[in-house]
Parts: sequence; C-alpha cells; structure tokens
Amino acid sequence: MAIVLEQPDHAAAIETLVDRAFGPDRVKKAVYRLREGVAPVDELCFVSIDHDGRVDGTIRFWPIAIGTDEPALLLGPIAVAPERRSAGLGASLIRHGLAEAAARDHRAVVLVGDEPYYGRFGFSARLTTRLALPGPFEPARFLGLELVPGALAGACGRVGRGWPSRRTADRATPASDSAAGAFDGFGAFGFAVAPEGV
Ligand SMILES: CC(C)(COP(=O)(O)OP(=O)(O)OC[C@H]1O[C@@H](n2cnc3c(N)ncnc32)[C@H](O)[C@@H]1OP(=O)(O)O)[C@@H](O)C(=O)NCCC(=O)NCCS
Repeated sequence: MAIVLEQPDHAAAIETLVDRAFGPDRVKKAVYRLREGVAPVDELCFVSIDHDGRVDGTIRFWPIAIGTDEPALLLGPIAVAPERRSAGLGASLIRHGLAEAAARDHRAVVLVGDEPYYGRFGFSARLTTRLALPGPFEPARFLGLELVPGALAGACGRVGRGWPSRRTADRATPASDSAAGAFDGFGAFGFAVAPEGV
C-alpha cells in the first residue's frame, strides 16, 4: 500500500469510492455547502494505492473560515474500499493527512463524523460547541481537532467557505454540480467565495 498525492487521473476512482461509501445524497449535507465554488487543498488530497495499482482509499481537506475569518481545514470525504476496511488504511490516510497539514502550519481541522472513530485521532465535539455549520447537523458529530494547542479555544460563530488558492481555483466545485438549491441560507453566513481566478 502506498499513500500518494491525488492526481487528476484518480478522479473517477475517487468518485466511485465516495459514492459507494456515502451514496449520491451526500451532496445534500451541510458540509457540501462549504465546498461549493472552492477547490480542495491540492497538497492535502491523498489516495492510497493497492498492490495492483488501484485506488482503494481517498482523503481530502478543504479550506474553511471559522468565526470572522480564522482559516482552518475541513476534513472529508474519507472513504476506503469496502473490501479493504478494518486494516488500518483509514487511520493511515488520516494520520498522513493530519501530519502534512500540521507540517504546512495549518492550525485546526473540523469534520462531521462519528466521534467513536475520529476520537482516536484527537477529534472532539467539545471543541466545536460554539460553532455552526451552514445547514442542519448533529452537534455530537461535529468534531474539531487542534493541530496547534488552543487553536479552537476561542472559536465561535459560523463556519464558512475558505478561499481557493490561485493554483487550485480552476478545480473549484461549481455550485451547479452540487445541491445548492437544497440550502438557501448560505449568504446569511457572510463568507464570500473568492472571485474567479483568485
Ligand atoms: C470510516 C472508514 C474510512 C474507516 O476506514 P478503515 O480503513 O476501515 O479504518 P481503520 O482500519 O483505520 O479502522 C477500522 C476500525 O474503525 C471502526 N470504525 C469504522 N467506522 C467507524 C465508525 N463510523 N464509528 C466507530 N468505529 C468505526 C471499525 O469498526 C474498525 O474497528 P476494528 O479495528 O475494531 O475492527 C471506512 O470504514 C469507510 O470508508 N467507511 C464508509 C465511509 C464513512 O462512513 N466515513 C465516515 C465515518 S464517520
């Protein structure tokens, strides 16, 4: 097994993995509102490759803004091929991604997922109690992790989209590809998507 940076020709395999894990309705989730018009962080998108050269795991991170304008990361989706689960692949992808994020001076990561799984990596719902997502979510599944101690200590307010980097802006998820119509309150959160090309 090897963990490598995601490449454009992995896209179809990633889509299949994520579809199998979460189904097509996944785009209705609040976290997908945070990905509209924003590209994932290129240097924090990884796949695992099996011995036959197939993509059997994927993890991505997205730029977000917490509160007024505090930059942070959204982890997800992460998915492992059903036949490869419970062998430590998910943990390897998460630990690799978090280590790379920390090495690049990111300070905090949030996600929506099960604390019984993500707790082992240090994620906790206690760190997000004063934060809100742009849409309905279960507070017990909205988890945070501090890469820098205290990074989420004063975090409160809304989580909004981050700014796409110049390098990744052309990979941004177009709003038309998502379930934008399912959520009509994003503007109330006050986080603008960067103008095209920024
Ligand atoms: C979650 C996922 C990425 C974990 O990948 P993985 O390679 O199986 O993970 P690991 O091998 O590191 O860990 C597996 C262990 O975590 C447990 N686990 C997996 N998902 C869990 C969850 N949602 N809650 C609690 N425990 C979970 C497994 O039961 C297994 O326990 P075991 O070691 O006692 O058998 C994978 O199961 C997956 O793709 N699931 C579908 C997508 C999904 O549900 N993602 C979000 C999870 S909230």
